[in-house]
Amino acid sequence: MTDDPRSWYGDPRAAAAARTADLGALRTQVDDLLDAMINKFYAEIPYADHQARGEELNLEYYKRHNIETILRLRRKRTIDALAINYFTKRDPVRGAAWAHYVEDEMLHDEWFAGDLGRIGVTKDEIYSTDPFQATKLLTGYLQYGMEFEGTPLALLCSVYFVEYTTTKTQPSWVKNLEEKLGREKVAGARRHVGTDIDDEHADFVWGVLTSLVSSTEDEAKVIQHMRIVANLWVAYFLELYQAVVAPAKNSFEAAGSLAGRFA
Ligand SMILES: [Fe+2]
Repeated sequence: MTDDPRSWYGDPRAAAAARTADLGALRTQVDDLLDAMINKFYAEIPYADHQARGEELNLEYYKRHNIETILRLRRKRTIDALAINYFTKRDPVRGAAWAHYVEDEMLHDEWFAGDLGRIGVTKDEIYSTDPFQATKLLTGYLQYGMEFEGTPLALLCSVYFVEYTTTKTQPSWVKNLEEKLGREKVAGARRHVGTDIDDEHADFVWGVLTSLVSSTEDEAKVIQHMRIVANLWVAYFLELYQAVVAPAKNSFEAAGSLAGRFA
């Protein structure tokens, strides 16, 4: 946007109030979609329930998954900064809210690095690892939204996706990992899932997300973003599986995991 007072937001509180909508029906639709995706994920993706229910934990799989979580969070904070930039020019009340949330989440990669350290993974190993292709594409998709769609809606959808699916899946993953590795070994993951649930992050993120939705076209975009983000997460879990557990039998099987439509 340009520095033209006619296109500015006027009073910040009034601007925020004008962007507040009751989108309960859309949220129900999104949550139902995510619930169905979680079931499909466990049913169809190899190793999807390994950390939730695996009897013999594949430690290499667990390590690489946590390393990737850290690498993804390190890049996501840059996209969060782009979203804050967007809000400062349109809705600074939401900008302040997002900045507060991002401050809370910004360094949570330390918690996962702490867990990895307790099983002997060094910081050097973590930070010298190149992210998976799927992680680069997910990060790139969120940045694409900012660059070419002019809105952080893709980011907000991705963050809602993660907060919602975290509260639905991670308690059982962490419980199983505590049983297999010992409670003290996964203290960081336990603390992280506790923060998401206790601080009601999904509700908060939904509130910011809805400030970006003002038409039925925007609502359709939300559903589309959720599906694309889901496809990219599935691509990630397939890439992780093929990297650690069972290599792709041919190059197209690996490429197919990215081109495939899960959702
Ligand atoms: Fe969170």
